[in-house]
Amino acid sequence: FFILSMSPLLSQTNYDESKVPSFEVPDPLTTFKGKKIKSVKKWEKARRPELLHFFENNVYGKIPKTLKIDSYNILEQDDNALNGKAKRKQVELTFKNNGKTLSYTILLYLPKNIAKAAVFLGYNFYGNHTITEDKAVLISSAWANNNESFQIENNTLTEESRGKRTNRWAVEKILEAGYGLATIYYGEVDPDKNDFSDGIHSLLYQQDQSRPKLDEWGSIAAWSWGMVRALDYFEKDPDVDASKVISFGHSRLGKTSLWAAATDKRFAGVISNNSGCGGATMSKRKFGETLAVINDRFPHWFCDNFNEYNENEEALPVDQHQLLALIAPRPLYVASAEEDQWADPRGEFLSAHYATQVYHLYDMEGIETMEMPKVNEPIHNTVSYHIRTGKHDVTDYDWENYIRWANAFVK
Ligand code: GCU
Repeated sequence: FFILSMSPLLSQTNYDESKVPSFEVPDPLTTFKGKKIKSVKKWEKARRPELLHFFENNVYGKIPKTLKIDSYNILEQDDNALNGKAKRKQVELTFKNNGKTLSYTILLYLPKNIAKAAVFLGYNFYGNHTITEDKAVLISSAWANNNESFQIENNTLTEESRGKRTNRWAVEKILEAGYGLATIYYGEVDPDKNDFSDGIHSLLYQQDQSRPKLDEWGSIAAWSWGMVRALDYFEKDPDVDASKVISFGHSRLGKTSLWAAATDKRFAGVISNNSGCGGATMSKRKFGETLAVINDRFPHWFCDNFNEYNENEEALPVDQHQLLALIAPRPLYVASAEEDQWADPRGEFLSAHYATQVYHLYDMEGIETMEMPKVNEPIHNTVSYHIRTGKHDVTDYDWENYIRWANAFVK
């Protein structure tokens, strides 16, 4: 699944900075009609909505209609989890429409001596039970991609993969710093395959509809929707400070965390960990993964309209730094990895830099320089950035920095 098949497009992948085309960076502060934006008021009234609208209709796809939580059910709760260090809750959210039902489960760890905790919320790739050795974590029965190293056969998650992803989730560090951690298996919201008969999409079709229209949501928008509904639940949970929820995600789920926070201003902060193409990096650079490649290999992630720009990035009136700008003035952390050239670290960095001008409207600082920092030398501001050594992954180093940034700018 993660292995690249050698299509002709892939063999053209550019990793040479000198071959990055020169292009005009679309100005976040000039409207499509050419008006200059000089105030927060004009940004929020005119420019932000038109950018959001563009990304909705042409990149991620719009949600056909709002669907609220039908009910939630605390499946399990323990005030002495993780050797007495945390409270644990497993909460199932259920949605109903068109005679169909969809449920997904939030695993929540909370620090014990904090009345209402700020929380990092992020999806996991292979089930809630993979992020911890904790035996009480329930195993999802949702469809999963087969994966040998996770011993997933027949698209079914099992006990054998419990704890296999603890390396990506610094649960203890997060709790010790006074934050909660909430995670959801993304396959429960929408299985990650090019099939629109399942997942949340199927609950919102009109009569005789069997796949999203050209401008309607792909899987990334569906997963983002799931994070937004989790936030609705947090507003009802007395143990969570819903005004301090940070959306977090790695890779495709980093694209997801960005889009979730762009569409819902209640997220107090956002982390994009190695989100790459269609996430934090700039499409027009055509460095590493390109739009044609991502839309070919993952045709269900974005809306069909996005195909318009395959090998045609020049025609895009926006770029991903404007997605980042939609997060302003909320704290944003973009992180890259040195060996993750596929995700174009320099593009991720520049994107954070170009988004910063919108933060300036709010008198906030971001990535002021165009010179990339050295590896493992983070820049911390309201907009933060680091590139660390190593590969496409989430590490303790990443979490240590996210916590420092959250302490300074979110909490
Ligand atoms: C693939 C894909 C990336 C994505 C990554 C992931 O490599 O090309 O766009 O970010 O999978 O989600 O791990």
